[in-house]
Amino acid sequence: MLHALEVLFLRIYMAIFKVVTFLMPFKWPKVFEGADSSLELVRHMAQQGHKRVLIVTDAVLVKLGLIDRMKAELDKLGVAYAVYDGVEPNPTVAQIEAGYGVLRQNNCEAILAIGGGSPIDAAKMIGALAKNKKPIIKMTGLLRVWKGMLPLYAVPTTAGTGSECTIAAVVTDTANKRKLAAMDLRLMPTACALDGALMTGLPPHITAATGMDALTHAVEAFISRNAMHKTDVRGIEATQLIMKYLDTAVTNGSDVVARQKMARASHLAGIAFTQAGVGYVHAIAHKFGALYHTPHGLANAIVMPYVLDYSLPNCAPRLAELARHCGIGPANGDDLHVAQAFVQRIRDMNDKFGIPRTLAALKAEDIPEIAKAAIGEARFTYAVPRYMNTDVAKGVIRHMLPAN
Ligand SMILES: NC(=O)c1ccc[n+]([C@@H]2O[C@H](COP(=O)([O-])OP(=O)(O)OC[C@H]3O[C@@H](n4cnc5c(N)ncnc54)[C@H](O)[C@@H]3O)[C@@H](O)[C@H]2O)c1
Ligand SMILES: [Fe+2]
Repeated sequence: MLHALEVLFLRIYMAIFKVVTFLMPFKWPKVFEGADSSLELVRHMAQQGHKRVLIVTDAVLVKLGLIDRMKAELDKLGVAYAVYDGVEPNPTVAQIEAGYGVLRQNNCEAILAIGGGSPIDAAKMIGALAKNKKPIIKMTGLLRVWKGMLPLYAVPTTAGTGSECTIAAVVTDTANKRKLAAMDLRLMPTACALDGALMTGLPPHITAATGMDALTHAVEAFISRNAMHKTDVRGIEATQLIMKYLDTAVTNGSDVVARQKMARASHLAGIAFTQAGVGYVHAIAHKFGALYHTPHGLANAIVMPYVLDYSLPNCAPRLAELARHCGIGPANGDDLHVAQAFVQRIRDMNDKFGIPRTLAALKAEDIPEIAKAAIGEARFTYAVPRYMNTDVAKGVIRHMLPAN
């Protein structure tokens, strides 16, 4: 644990942060939801008067033909577009700059992001580059995208990050092996479409990992000290939906109802964590992503049970509350037992989805650096229920070392 005075200082700091967040004028995106909502979104873009649009996506989605119907709709509406499909998972500064080059060449005035969190986050930063003449890294951190971004319309194809309704964009700084988040109200998309049918081709292992990312958002937001009634309501609904539909989405990917429910869950969890924040699961997972390119959702899924085990002494009643909303845990069990049952449920889900309990790429000699980065990321950003010092963080991370 940290020194009691330091904890007190951080608690006061985060309480002020909570009041500020509560008062912040979030401008949530207009949401189109259900069958063909992605086409409705495209029509909405045209109605807004956009004439030249940059589509930001990745090569896999282009190959799968996932963007074809939206392109055809743009053609029909007489909206010109260019496509940048160079985004890869955990997008880098170089990929964002390349996308900005395509935007400039084609004089685009709005962006349509189609993809998982990677294309949507890259699109946010491309749109920010168009308005702010400063290096991408200088826009990471809190409220540093001063001049906003181009109008951004988002179609998530994973259920997942919730990036279509968050003020965050996560960028990989390859040179320094870091993942950095830009967080600014002006990074909120203008409108988005939750179109579950676009997700039916998502392979089971990505469905599982991205679904666990959404679950991590809901859980970390719910046990955050900065949780509020409005974030609780969304966190609970998201968790209920994930507990009910993620398994079907993984095992029967073509089930459009399960896909649509997961898209909604991811969106609600995104709104919840935008205001309540996340915690050490994300802080550690970000460093795994930066060092080993571990997919974000997979990293969260592996880390979550260990961080929750550590946090239980300070969050059992909250976690038990969330568990009871989902019908998890013994009916008359006390808070600790119900909360433990919730953590066990997460372990069971991971086991069922083939998500390992350890991270194969993790090296013992990297643990001090990972612990330091995670503590640094969380310190003034996340209102975690139970603080760690670097030694405690090292111990938690050591649980994830592969056995050999
Ligand atoms: N902005 C935020 O608020 C926020 C929150 C959490 C995570 N993130 C970031 O988002 C990124 C991860 O995004 P992600 O987990 O959504 O994955 P992703 O966008 O990296 O995509 C993962 C893989 O899935 C494929 N894919 C995506 N949709 C598909 C579909 N419908 N069918 C078939 N294949 C498909 C992609 O081509 C890619 O290979 C990370 O960089 C993470 O740090 C951002
Ligand atoms: Fe996440």
